[in-house]
Amino acid sequence: MSEYFAVAIDGPAAAGKSTVAKRVARELGALYLDTGAMYRAVGLYMLRHGVSLDDAEGIAHRAGEARVDVRYVDGIQRVFLCGEDVSQAIRENEVSAAASAVSAVPAVRKILMARQREIAAGSSVVMDGRDIGTKVLPDAPVKVFLTASAEVRARRRFEELSAKGQPVPYERLLEEIRQRDHNDATRAASPMVQAADAQLLDSSDMTVEQVVAAIVAMAREKMEGRR
Ligand code: DC
Repeated sequence: MSEYFAVAIDGPAAAGKSTVAKRVARELGALYLDTGAMYRAVGLYMLRHGVSLDDAEGIAHRAGEARVDVRYVDGIQRVFLCGEDVSQAIRENEVSAAASAVSAVPAVRKILMARQREIAAGSSVVMDGRDIGTKVLPDAPVKVFLTASAEVRARRRFEELSAKGQPVPYERLLEEIRQRDHNDATRAASPMVQAADAQLLDSSDMTVEQVVAAIVAMAREKMEGRR
């Protein structure tokens, strides 16, 4: 058994995974790894280099050029693409679709998964994504599948973007979320599915605090059992 502890949080876009995972990591004294940010960085690379998002072969061919690095500055994850800090740039709305497209390419998944496992081998982690409980860390002692209705998620994304001064119409966000759910769940390579041993948490009617408390309680119980 690994000396380190792992919490895997998977679920659809905008379910609140990163907000929750960050807080759970802080409470448990673990490292937080946002794996979606790594796919976003590869998506940004393809956008910047004019690689068509429909061109899976082209993406696979150039995947190795997109050097993605994750570093922690004052405990906060920063994502670097070929040495440039792109933590801000990867949050642009157009990068979401690019990330979804590159994440369907097996060559991209292979590279990023190796890096994610390497990080988990050297530290206790709370990792969020789509395939953490099923593929990246199938032995994680705590697995959560965090979801919420598409409407609630679109509303949250709308408020988040509006607060940043980048309003996008709610209807468009809802459509994008539905499209991404569909892409993420139906792709052949590591589709988003709930692991058989994951706990389903629907956050539609839960506060962030309630979700965090539920996951921390699960983790503490498992940690006690390991002592
Ligand atoms: O969580 P997010 O929206 O930042 O993720 C961006 C995209 O990356 C999303 O469409 C699905 C993909 N992704 C993935 O396929 N596997 C992961 N472990 C994390 C994200």
